[in-house]
Amino acid sequence: MAQLSTTYLGIPVRNPLVVSSSNLTAHKDNIRKAAEAGAGAIVLKSLFEEQIRKDLAAIPAEQLEANPEAQAMMNALASHWGSADYLQLVKDAVSAAGPVPVIASINCIHDDLWLDFAEQLESAGAKALELNIAPFPQSPKVSAKDLEDLVVSIVRNVSVRTRLPLAVKLSPYFTNPFAIVERLAGAGARAVVLFNRLYRFDFDLKKRAIVSGPAKSGTQEYHESLRWIANLYGVAACELVGGTGIHSAETALKFIAAGAQTVQLCSAINAGGWAVLGSIRDEMSSMLDELGYASVDAFRGSLSRRTHPQNEQYERLQYLKAIDPR
Ligand SMILES: Cc1cc2nc3c(=O)[nH]c(=O)nc-3n(C[C@H](O)[C@H](O)[C@H](O)COP(=O)(O)O)c2cc1C
Repeated sequence: MAQLSTTYLGIPVRNPLVVSSSNLTAHKDNIRKAAEAGAGAIVLKSLFEEQIRKDLAAIPAEQLEANPEAQAMMNALASHWGSADYLQLVKDAVSAAGPVPVIASINCIHDDLWLDFAEQLESAGAKALELNIAPFPQSPKVSAKDLEDLVVSIVRNVSVRTRLPLAVKLSPYFTNPFAIVERLAGAGARAVVLFNRLYRFDFDLKKRAIVSGPAKSGTQEYHESLRWIANLYGVAACELVGGTGIHSAETALKFIAAGAQTVQLCSAINAGGWAVLGSIRDEMSSMLDELGYASVDAFRGSLSRRTHPQNEQYERLQYLKAIDPR
């Protein structure tokens, strides 16, 4: 059987299937199920910066005055407010996951809040940290460069304060993914996850209301991520992680062929239950056998742009011919 074990963020993992940060990873019982079902690694549900800021606002003024330092504020938070629950989740998850690495996740929109919290996550047993960064542009006065500078600044500030390897989960909205990924690797990101599938809103016209759009991805949503991993492999100075629309062993292997170190799954598990992990894992192994590869590591990057430098299909964005409507 082809070997699926590999490393992610420098950590040995038994296979490249990572359960992505979501409702699925917000409780220790699910972490145990994920580990039993065969996950290679597990990313916990993100702790959201907005939650922490709300918690901060709720701290009595005199207490804040008595603890002016960020460390003291974070300690106060950690012992009394929402982030304490997250640290507990990390501890519980680490014991529920057994040997499967647990990766903490924090959602950041400013670059000044997380410094000390990252250290606490490490003490709680997280093996790595994923930063889920997707700032909303807010106004036309905010330039693309302003937003990119913010993302890089968050990563740099966290990376100098923690020894945990950092993954950065990006939204697909960047003008030049080559540029932002290079800057992130320079700022300390050891991996980038391409891409997050952000919350979607929709309208209910009859109720004249904003409602949630589809939470689950479909099986055809992976192509944008695949394109960028195939183009970035061998160019980016960090690991690449496939995300969004990975529902089958075949799609997972396409990402490995593109150059992904690991792949993240959420909707496939939401749709099919935890058993999906074991079936995708086993099928990946037998597909690799059929393809004549002894391991996932040997297969990685075999269809990346690096192996086909002259092939312009990798950068093709337009349909050159009209689609025949018949
Ligand atoms: C209900 C739900 C909650 C999610 N929560 C988070 C989160 O807290 N942090 C995060 O980085 N991604 C979150 N995600 C995004 C997923 O981790 C994943 O990137 C996205 O669903 C695309 O992968 P998929 O196609 O396998 O679903 C969430 C997704 C869903 C459906």
